Amino acid sequence: MRSVLITGGAGFIGQNLVHAWRAGQPIDRLVVVDAMTYAANVRSLEPLIADRSILFVKGDIKDAALMRRLFEEHEFTHVAHLAAESHVDRSIADPEAFLQTNVLGTFTLLRAALDAWRSAGTLDQSRFLHVSTDEVYGSLQLTDPAFSEASPYRPNSPYAASKAASDHLVRAYVETYRLPALITNCSNNYGSYQHPEKLIPLMIIHALEGQSLPIYGDGSNVRDWLHVSDHCAALMAVIERGRVGETYNVGGGNERNNRDVVGLICDTLDRAFAADANLASRFPACPAASGNSCRALINFVTDRPGHDHRYAIDARKLAGELGYRCSIDFDAGLGQTVQWYLDHEDWWREMTSGAYKDWIDKNYGFRIAV
Ligand code: NAD
Ligand code: DAU
Repeated sequence: MRSVLITGGAGFIGQNLVHAWRAGQPIDRLVVVDAMTYAANVRSLEPLIADRSILFVKGDIKDAALMRRLFEEHEFTHVAHLAAESHVDRSIADPEAFLQTNVLGTFTLLRAALDAWRSAGTLDQSRFLHVSTDEVYGSLQLTDPAFSEASPYRPNSPYAASKAASDHLVRAYVETYRLPALITNCSNNYGSYQHPEKLIPLMIIHALEGQSLPIYGDGSNVRDWLHVSDHCAALMAVIERGRVGETYNVGGGNERNNRDVVGLICDTLDRAFAADANLASRFPACPAASGNSCRALINFVTDRPGHDHRYAIDARKLAGELGYRCSIDFDAGLGQTVQWYLDHEDWWREMTSGAYKDWIDKNYGFRIAV
């Protein structure tokens, strides 16, 4: 039996990965560790915790004693490391937590894994998957070729720099200590359980509440949208069959600029309200409740400092070596995602209560219409 540690398993991608792993590999032992920061939510995992399909540990990856103890108790054969501070705007407002968790936390975990696998003599049979981002490669112009695994590192935000530093540490552990690690660098994920601070859920929720839709700058920035289910399947393929020491880029093949993404969200909501009269009574402040378009709420505001213009992923290595191709079409995936937020109002109301309002004031209060 394999024993698997998933860090950050109460976050957006982490929750999706836990469910995908449980469904795909029912006999593996799964241990989830998460510090339960503002970004975490354990509701979707509660049934799995209750029936002991997974073990959940509230804990910090920076806690060396805890990491050591978990490795001793559970004799992990596999680690999927997703725990991180993940929001670029928060890294601009307050970078320190990003250095602490993304760099020192990753270091603490690498050291615990190496010590445990060395003393058990299991380095050859173990796997450490470090989940990283395309932001480490910096920014592309519209005509540039997509990022490949050979693209130079040019991080532009404190978040991207902290992830780049963590990638370099992982590489150093492979080269120096022969830790059996692999790295994935993926593009922007979207789908169920994504925190409301990120572009797609933020725009859906603001539109439902009749609040302005704040597009940074002129909205021409391009992201390559990757459905979280496709991403989780790619992560499982890499940890199962990837070559140790290698990096694999994961992208959705869905490049869109922010103007188009927000427009599509508005059109999707307009259609949903036209088709379902109950939505108008549930969300009366939404323009679509009175037959108008959500597009009326779009507002171009002060740009993000150091805003990367374009990300695009060349995922041919993943397809060529491991036979995995992401396949969820963006229009269909976005439609499902909008529907998920319509169906899970309790979830996003919980995530947007309390301190989240302080974040909205801090990040949007100073932005003016441009
Ligand atoms: P998220 O912010 O939704 O979740 C991160 C989780 O990590 C949270 O549950 C949080 O509580 C936990 N965490 C934070 N600090 C911790 C600590 N010190 N110890 C233990 N747990 C801690 O992030 P996400 O979007 O799910 O991203 C997961 C991983 O994927 C991150 O490493 C991120 O850099 C990477 N990534 C995300 C995207 C994306 O589009 N979301 C794209 C590329 C890469
Ligand atoms: O590329 C992978 C990265 O994607 C991950 O590593 C990060 O963890 C993840 O947060 C995401 O980073 P982005 O900065 O691209 O995502 P975000 O959702 O914050 O923003 C997407 C785009 O939308 C970006 O160009 C900024 C813009 N934006 C975002 C917000 C929150 C707006 O125009 N308005 C907004 O209010």
